[in-house]
Amino acid sequence: MKTADPAIQVRGVGVDFGGVRALNGVTFSVEAGRTCGVIGPNGAGKTTLFDVVTGLRRPTAGSVLLHGSDVTATGALGRSRLGVRRTFQRPQVFGRLTVLDNVLAALEWHGGGGGLAGDLLALPARGRRERRRRERALEALDRCGLADLAGAHAADLPIGRRRMVELARAIVDEPSVLLLDEPTSGLDADQSARFAAVVAGLDTTVLLVEHDVGFVMDACERVIVLDLGEVIAEGTPAGIREDPAVRAAYLG
Ligand SMILES: Nc1ncnc2c1ncn2[C@@H]1O[C@H](COP(=O)(O)OP(=O)(O)OP(=O)(O)O)[C@@H](O)[C@H]1O
Ligand SMILES: [Mg+2]
Repeated sequence: MKTADPAIQVRGVGVDFGGVRALNGVTFSVEAGRTCGVIGPNGAGKTTLFDVVTGLRRPTAGSVLLHGSDVTATGALGRSRLGVRRTFQRPQVFGRLTVLDNVLAALEWHGGGGGLAGDLLALPARGRRERRRRERALEALDRCGLADLAGAHAADLPIGRRRMVELARAIVDEPSVLLLDEPTSGLDADQSARFAAVVAGLDTTVLLVEHDVGFVMDACERVIVLDLGEVIAEGTPAGIREDPAVRAAYLG
């Protein structure tokens, strides 16, 4: 029996920024449905790796496959159509929109249909689709502990809440691959626990950059360690904790 392709395959990826080699020969894969942590010191290349997997940055070398298809030449929009979602190290929300509208915007592709004519004619099918969209958005807000804030402007929220808005937006459309870049920075303990619970409840492949080692140990089945753009260790959280190369990279 043929085993299913991994959800994410990164093969020999390199990224050069002028003289800086941000990534060099990075190779790993993540099985579908698993949560894989990416740890490493500041400047190790973690965010650059996320940019390569999500299609924001073309690698200088190597390739990226999602669910077995080579997407190296596919841009960020094309990959998001394949179900790739992410959150950013500095949360990116639409500050002038309400929390609900931030999440609805992530569902826009499924749109009401019918355009202006649809508005004028108030087509019943369009109304049903619109109601369904709102239900889904509200359900995502509820999961992320934001039900009471649906009408608040995203710009008015503290960073922890903005992170949760980003998460709601990332999960509302049932992503196939979800990348989270330092999601717990700025969250209090309750928010971190909620974030972990939401992620644990997803039937999705997750790649997670995180400095909170406890969070990584709890959330991830596997961990990859980057240092100076290279994978220096890979394994279970417990194995990684004992790895001499990892200790050296972190402790100098
Ligand atoms: N746009 C860019 N132009 C030039 N150099 C860059 C650019 N983005 C990142 N770098 C460099 O690439 C290397 C990797 O950066 P990256 O942001 O991927 O690291 P990181 O592991 O996410 O770090 P942190 O933990 O601080 O978020 C660093 O040396 C950084 O200075
Ligand atoms: Mg980073």
